[in-house]
Amino acid sequence: MTIEPASPGVDDRSAMGAPRKRLFIKTWGCQMNVYDSGRMADVLAPLGYAPVQAPDHADMVILNTCHIREKAAEKLFSELGRLRESKAARRAAGGEMVLAVAGCVAQAEGAEITARAPWVDLVLGPQTYHKLPEMVARAARAAGAVIETDFPVDQKFDHLPEAAAPPGVTAFLTVQEGCDKFCSFCVVPYTRGAEYSRPVAAVLAEARRLVAAGARELTLLGQNVNAYHGEGPGGADWGLGRLLRALAEIPRLARLRYTTSHPRDMGDDLIAAHRDLPTLMPYLHLPVQSGSDRVLAAMNRGHTADDFLRVVDRLREARPDLVLSSDFIVGHPGETEADHEATLALIRRVGFASAFSFKYSARPGTPAAGAPHQVRETEKDRRLHDLQALLRAQQKAFNASRAGMTFAVLITGQGRHPGQIAGRSPWLQPVHLIGPRALIGAEVAVTIETAFPNSLAGVLAASAGGVPVQPPEETAPA
Ligand code: 5AD
Ligand code: SF4
Repeated sequence: MTIEPASPGVDDRSAMGAPRKRLFIKTWGCQMNVYDSGRMADVLAPLGYAPVQAPDHADMVILNTCHIREKAAEKLFSELGRLRESKAARRAAGGEMVLAVAGCVAQAEGAEITARAPWVDLVLGPQTYHKLPEMVARAARAAGAVIETDFPVDQKFDHLPEAAAPPGVTAFLTVQEGCDKFCSFCVVPYTRGAEYSRPVAAVLAEARRLVAAGARELTLLGQNVNAYHGEGPGGADWGLGRLLRALAEIPRLARLRYTTSHPRDMGDDLIAAHRDLPTLMPYLHLPVQSGSDRVLAAMNRGHTADDFLRVVDRLREARPDLVLSSDFIVGHPGETEADHEATLALIRRVGFASAFSFKYSARPGTPAAGAPHQVRETEKDRRLHDLQALLRAQQKAFNASRAGMTFAVLITGQGRHPGQIAGRSPWLQPVHLIGPRALIGAEVAVTIETAFPNSLAGVLAASAGGVPVQPPEETAPA
């Protein structure tokens, strides 16, 4: 993601009179990183930094990195190679470019980054973004680079300012960070640290602010969001279900979602929230990773395939229109053909509306990286191919099942074509239709006329029978 540019035509001074400086942020990875990039822009706004779309003439460039899968470090260093030249060009032209590496690769690699790329000025882990202004000042004074990779997560949230930019119709809100589960393959517990939940009052205050500023849909974020246990009024321990119930009371908040969840933490109260709260959308991302109990045990997931299926059944009982998405890894060390078949069987049994699937890649420092019986790359390719064919077919069938239905679409913006607007179905599918821009921010009834593999096209229900519009990138109907 690139942070939106400042509106064209603004002069070179910020509202507070400080010279306007250009900030370019490049974001890799998850929605938590997107959220963090927004907060870094907020922290730097009072110093006169305004977002721009390209790094070339930027006064500061932040690379917000992701370490979860392959080649994170390689991607970072090749980007840094390009930026070395931009930085030199900027200096030759009499300017300066502060270069910062943030996110999980920064946390994992630390000083290694400045050893390999000494032209980097700042290295900061995910829990230190509130210190950015101080680090920028220190970098201006320092001869060498400034590195901050502490883990004081509570301080991060206490010190981040309120958002400077207005949110869109849909907004993210981080309620939880970190993970204590230590799945065999995963770097998150090492890069994001132990589980931490923000206090209830802080979450509610941020949610009210976002809604007052125009957000109609909030997605609660956390690496283990359903492990949320925040301090509530009077010191009570609130789970995610209770937090969702309180958030659902906010007037004008039309939709709630949360991601990413762990099957082990789908407690009774959270499942009951799906039954009781119409604003809690009927779509849940619930990673299962594998359908084989042997592999799930090797992954240290703490649940069996059957545990997962029971959770799915209970969710569907609570909210019959709920659909699921998930994450899968093929080729975890020790995975056999029979294990792979068990994953395919689980997928057939559940039926997913969408999914993400990955080839296992060894992350240095994680237990699986050194495990015996690593799976051959060609074998992983084949298994991924099988799995994705099945998941694609399920997604296509789910999209096709919406054709002819009329349901509420939250209009989030303009479409690519003249007169077109776009929004999201309750099941997170992109929906395109012809309609007035005045509907942006509204939930409107839309009748679906065409289903595509990745999106839907429809007409305002009042005008059903009209001509559906083409989505921007797809042409083949499902
Ligand atoms: N190899 C492949 N996929 C991984 N994921 C996490 N770590 C790895 C890894 N080492 C996937 C998991 C997780 C998603 C965000 O990324 O499926 O749920
Ligand atoms: Fe990683 Fe497992 Fe924690 Fe998810 S639950 S962040 S996969 S360690």
